[in-house]
Amino acid sequence: PRIYIPADSGALALGAEKVAKAIEKELKERGVEAKIVRNGSRGAYFLEPMVEVATANGRVAYGPVKASDVKSLFDSGFLTGGHHKRWLGSPDKIPFFAKQTRLTFARCGINDPLSLDAYKSLGGLRGLQNAVAMTPADVVKQVTESGLRGRGGAGFPTGIKWKTVLDTAGEQKYIVCNADEGDSATFADRMIMEGDPFVLIEGMAIAGVATGATKGFVYIRSEYPHAVATMNKAVAIARKAGVLGVNVLGSPNAFDMEIRVGAGAYVCGEETSLLNSLEGKRGVVRAKPPLPAIQGLFGKPTVINNVISLASVPIIMDKGAAYYKDFGMGRSRGTIPIQIAGNVRNGGLFETAFGLTLGEIVDDIGGGTASGRPVKAVQVGGPLGAYFPRALFDTPFDYEEFAKRDGLIGHAGITVFDDTADMLKQARFAMEFCAIESCGKCTPCRIGSTRGVEVLDKVAAGIEAEKNLALVTDLCNTMKFGSLCALGGFTPYPVMSSITHFPEDFKPAPARVAAE
Ligand code: NAI
Ligand code: SF4
Repeated sequence: PRIYIPADSGALALGAEKVAKAIEKELKERGVEAKIVRNGSRGAYFLEPMVEVATANGRVAYGPVKASDVKSLFDSGFLTGGHHKRWLGSPDKIPFFAKQTRLTFARCGINDPLSLDAYKSLGGLRGLQNAVAMTPADVVKQVTESGLRGRGGAGFPTGIKWKTVLDTAGEQKYIVCNADEGDSATFADRMIMEGDPFVLIEGMAIAGVATGATKGFVYIRSEYPHAVATMNKAVAIARKAGVLGVNVLGSPNAFDMEIRVGAGAYVCGEETSLLNSLEGKRGVVRAKPPLPAIQGLFGKPTVINNVISLASVPIIMDKGAAYYKDFGMGRSRGTIPIQIAGNVRNGGLFETAFGLTLGEIVDDIGGGTASGRPVKAVQVGGPLGAYFPRALFDTPFDYEEFAKRDGLIGHAGITVFDDTADMLKQARFAMEFCAIESCGKCTPCRIGSTRGVEVLDKVAAGIEAEKNLALVTDLCNTMKFGSLCALGGFTPYPVMSSITHFPEDFKPAPARVAAE
């Protein structure tokens, strides 16, 4: 039999290594021969560590498995899919997975992430094979027609970005993958780099073929050592197999890539700051223009895309633009891996076509709060995203629909809060976060964020609360319109949404105490 035990860092954090050791020990003691495969995670973290066994009737999952469950699992006939209190049945039938539309994450967590054969057996490399047989302009056209937009946060059409790089002359061009996934509640980039690294490599190679870039870099945050290790191994395997190199898949196209590790600054997720960091300089934001597409890494034309944008390209090049575009709504086409976290019962990654409402995501898929208390607020789009109250739960997951309600979907991480959350504290946290992470280049962000903390402290202390709240609003407008990048420019979103939707939390302290 084959036993699958995730080596994904989320699963490891929940005890997967102890479970693996316990299973190995049990196999030895019982004298049973079995192959243990260390797969990635399928993304249902509330079920991790989720162990699977390949049986004559397909795979059977168990979870969340503790090391102390292992003996009784074997006693229950676990190797043939026997019943046990941790029995979940076929993974495909677990509602959290059955309700998803997995395009980008189709393979994630199923097999050994470093098996190129397993990757190919599930459709891997077909997109790149198609791309090398086409002209660069036709590849760019496919990506443009698919409607794919940047999954890092800004939602800029990927095909148009690629076209700028293709049309810009340059002896050397680069593909840079932004894997500095720093938003709260987000783990999609990490999960795919650990669980299906070849899909990112394939996406980057396609980007290279499409734009004439021969060199790629993946900039991974230092907090992701497992992703760094897996990506490094995967790149070496891909190079050896001729997926990367001077003749990509035997074609005349050359493309190779390297993994680089960040040093722990949130602002290095901003594309120009990331470029500075990659060049070995301090991670300070650069003014645009020039766009990185024209003058990017080392001053050369550069595609910078988020991990998920690039990892979504292979399926587009495999099944065609129309197939991908068919999913979604409005101008938000295809699928989006929603990352559900915070105080939530069913936390994990849920890939689905755009268009589910926030309420469906939080209540139906997330199962409400972990604490069992009512949901008070949901922050969508990381630390710079707006807090939405239940009254906005009918908002469909779509770039424009969120923007209409003064929110953003960002990198699609959502953090759930129950009714014990104090939104004034959350607003203060946003300002404090900005003050700590500011690169210091522009005044509204560098100084505004510190002043923001002070003024919110006055509101909390009941000092001229009305006047100070008006000051916060004024400051937010200055930061929103006067900041050079999204860090200062988007900090007003969590602050203003808290004030707008939860005014009761901003009442002067005595009134708040009296109300409590
Ligand atoms: P941007 O809107 O300035 O540009 C988006 C991307 O398109 C960039 O990569 C830019 O270089 C590229 N681009 C624009 N015009 C182009 C052209 N003609 N050809 C080729 N490439 C072109 O966004 P930026 O500066 O990356 O960040 C601001 C945006 O980021 C905000 O709109 C926000 O939605 C989003 N954001 C949100 C975050 C969050 O917390 N959720 C975090 C970071 C960014
Ligand atoms: Fe730097 Fe903040 Fe200005 Fe961005 S908004 S350039 S992080 S100071």
